[in-house]
Order: sequence, then structure tokens, then C-alpha cells
Amino acid sequence: MESTKLIVTEKKPEQFSGDLLVYYIELAKKGGFKCENTIVQSWLENSGTLGEFSAKSGECLVFYPQTDKKNGAFSAKRILVVGLGKFEGNETHDELRERCRLSGGTIAQQAAKVKAKKIMICLPEIMDVRPKEVAECISEGVLLGDYHFLKYKKNDPDEESFTGFEEVRLFVQSSTDALQKGMRAGQIAALAAREARNMANEPGNSWTPSHFAAHGRMLAKKYSLKCTVLDKDDMKRLGMGGILAVNQGSPEPPKMVILEYRPIHKSQTVLLVGKGLTFDSGGVSLKPAAGMEDMKYDMCGGAAVMALMQAVGEERPDLGVIAIVPSTDNMAGGAALKPGDIITHYNGLTSEIVNTDAEGRLILADALAYGLEKFKPDCVIDIATLTGAAIVGLGHHRTALLGNNDELVARLLAAGERSGEPLWRLPLGKEYTKQIKSLVADMKNTGGKSAGTITAAAYLEKFVTDTPWAHLDIAGTAWEFTEKSYVPKGPSGIGVRTLLELVRKWKKEEKALSI
Ligand code: BES
Ligand code: MN
Ligand code: ZN
Repeated sequence: MESTKLIVTEKKPEQFSGDLLVYYIELAKKGGFKCENTIVQSWLENSGTLGEFSAKSGECLVFYPQTDKKNGAFSAKRILVVGLGKFEGNETHDELRERCRLSGGTIAQQAAKVKAKKIMICLPEIMDVRPKEVAECISEGVLLGDYHFLKYKKNDPDEESFTGFEEVRLFVQSSTDALQKGMRAGQIAALAAREARNMANEPGNSWTPSHFAAHGRMLAKKYSLKCTVLDKDDMKRLGMGGILAVNQGSPEPPKMVILEYRPIHKSQTVLLVGKGLTFDSGGVSLKPAAGMEDMKYDMCGGAAVMALMQAVGEERPDLGVIAIVPSTDNMAGGAALKPGDIITHYNGLTSEIVNTDAEGRLILADALAYGLEKFKPDCVIDIATLTGAAIVGLGHHRTALLGNNDELVARLLAAGERSGEPLWRLPLGKEYTKQIKSLVADMKNTGGKSAGTITAAAYLEKFVTDTPWAHLDIAGTAWEFTEKSYVPKGPSGIGVRTLLELVRKWKKEEKALSI
């Protein structure tokens, strides 16, 4: 639910009279359970001997306490105990953060089963993880897990829908400012990622380039950002031959949406470019029918950078952030781009079209060249569902990362790990660039069967010149991402939390990126 209230409270859990009260159970080193509530502890010891609960990470049990308010030990309708697993002491900090997030997702799943609207979670203590971070990651996991896209499910009498939490209370013995901030950080990250999922879930007939433009304008108004939308005429005037070529077969006009956030103090600027392909049919090089409906997700890179701007608008970091979303669909038709055609990009480079289905790089190329020239950022990161080859290489578990700057790549790898969105670097190099050499133009738009993810990046590399640059290929992770309690089926919102983490840490690590 969009408007879930998230509150830190010191009020005794026993007195909480909502739908679900949650206790965490740690697996003690020598065996046995550790729960802060002695009554729950005794229940568990009973069920434990029956072998029904062992407090493994993700394991759950629901109790229905006495409802006799006077004599009952609890006022809540239900008690959920969630296993936290064992702590061996060798877990990395990032693993512990992820364990908190996953437990939050588990809570959301269990709560949805019983349609609990008001819940209270007693926050656990976790080794050397600061309470602030525990609050952050659990809130994030709960809100990411509590995601329901029901807009088009109007008439299913069998499925009385659960729209999500009204209220989530986090119980702690003593609340602090830091803890509240942690909770808020988790909430901002989760809501942004959920917004990205919302955009992705919209089908190609209700999320067009114009919808990206309207969303950009809405964000600009809400968060005092600057929004510029380049339309087809602007693109013609500017010579953006890539995005215009991809749009040729479509009745929907293309848009390039630009959002700028500028901090008060002078600072570095990061440019983000997200592929906003609202439907990819392949064009004249038509895709097979099976699974083509998933190509409405081909705008997940654009959704990620738009959603990031929402979080940036909330947090107002000490770093300039600019997002560009080149957006069009890729359709077949009499006027559509053809194999063999030669196009000219914004920066004058020409490209021979070998396959009209390799369209993402064509629209990103114009956006990259334009953004770099116009904004002269300190670095640029693009994010795109760019190649099926990324799925072949890394499956659905890691986003492919390529780049020309080791420091920027290292920061992204760390941010991905910290946010539970792991990345894996692939190489670039002149041998790969050679694969996209053309007889008749500066390059061609595909490099053959081998190393498809790398040759796509090699194409983009031609447009970034000497600016530190990184490229995230999210084809495998934008949906069907690793099964996790806090990632429901459908679009994952991948990238939003990685980029947010990068932005949050930027100031601390700020030094010029050298190339
Ligand atoms: N949007 C697709 C890539 C994609 C495929 C993303 C499957 C997610 C799942 C992209 O535009 C595309 O079609 N790429 C081609 C490139 C090829 C023609 C060189 C591909 O990967 O097949
Ligand atoms: Mn394509
Ligand atoms: Zn595509």
C-alpha cells in the first residue's frame, strides 16, 4: 500500500492490539532458541521438541494467543515468530543486512496470507549491525515484500485481494534519532523500487514514452527538480538519428526525458541514462511470439533512473544527479527501420543496422552523447535491459557490469552487494570492439553471436569518450530476479537501490574519478 504508516514505538508489544505481532527468534549457538518474550519462548520450546520449528532463517510459526483481554498475555490477534538463523560470527556485514531484508520479506508474505493490515515487529539485535541498519533493512524488506499490483485485476471473486499494510510499527526498548533515520532510509529505498515496479508492470499500451514524460514532470513539480522533455521535432533538430530510427515504425511519438537535481553546494555530478523502450517487438527483425509479452519490461532501466530521482528528491543529497530516459517503442511496419540502413547519431558517428532488434544501444547512444556534451558530468552510468546474452552469461542472479573506470566499477560492485543486488564485471577491449567494425559505416549495431553483452557495451563505449563510465545490463535481473522473499514475481525494481546506495555513499568517497 502506497500510504503504509511506518512508526517506531516504545509501547509494550504485549499491549499491541493489531493483527499481527512479530518476534524474531535467534538460534542459539549451543542449540535452543532465544526470544525476548518468555511466554513465546516457552511456546517455542514445546513446539521445538515436536520438531516443528528450528528458527532457521526464514522459518515461521503463527500462534493465536488467548483473546481474553484481561487474562491473556497478549492483545494482538496473532503472533508470528520468524527465525533469524544462527550467527557464526563469520558473516559479512552485507550478508547480515540481506538477512534482515529477507526476514522483512518473509514477514510481508506471512502477513499477506492472513491479510494482516496492522502489524508490529519487535526489532532484533544483530551482532555488530547497528540498530539503525537493522531498522533500515527490515523496513526495506517489509515494504519491498508488501508489493501488490492489482490495478487491472477488477473482477476476480475467488481472489479477495489484499492491498497491503496500513500500519507497520517497529518496537524498540528505546528509540533514537539514528534509528528513525534508518527506518526512513529503508522506506525511501523501498518505495522508489516499488515505483519502478509499478511502471514496469504497466503494459505497453498504457505506459508509452509520453507517460515517462508525464511522470518526469510530476516528479519535477513534487521535488523541485528541472524537467526537460525533448520531443520528435527537437530530436530532428538535434540530429538524434538513433532514437528517431528506432521510432520510425511506431505511431507513438518518442520522448527524451531529462530530470536534473542540483544540490545547494557545489559538488560533483553523476549522469544516469536508462533505456526506456516501452515495448520491443524487435522491429523488422521481429522477435518470436513466445514470451514477447515480456518485452513490455524493456523500459526497466528507464524506470530505475526515474524511481531513483524520486528517492533523490526525498533525500536531497550533496551530489548533482541528472537522469535521462530515451523512450520509444520498437515496432515493425512500412516505415520501420530496415537491416542494411545506415543512421547517423547525435555525435555524428554512423551505424550500419544489421539487426533492428539491437535497438537499445541506438537510443542509448544518442542519450549518452547528448548528456555528456550538455552536462559534462563527472561520471556517467547507463542501465538497460540490453542483451539476452546477459541471461546466458549470468542467469537471473547478477547484473552484468562493464566500464572504463576501475574506481567507479568498484563503487558499483560494493553498492550492489550492500543492497542485495549483486553485479558481476565483464571485460571490454579492442578484440571485442573489432567485432562491430562495419564495411560501410563507423560501426555496425551487432557483433555476431559471441560475447553479445560485451559487444553491446563496446558499441556504447564509442559514445562516452573519456568520461568515467559504467554500464549495467539488467536483462537477466529486471524480472525473474533470484527468488527472494522481498521480490515478488514480476518486475524486481532492480538497480534503484544499487544506484541509491552509490549516491548515498558518494560524498564519503568523493574524490575525482581518474581515467
Ligand atoms: N530488449 C532486448 C534484450 C532482452 C532480451 C532483454 C531478453 C531481456 C530479455 C534487446 O533489445 C534485444 O533484443 N537484444 C538482442 C540483440 C541482438 C539482436 C544482437 C538480443 O539480445 O537478442
Ligand atoms: Mn531488441
Ligand atoms: Zn530491447
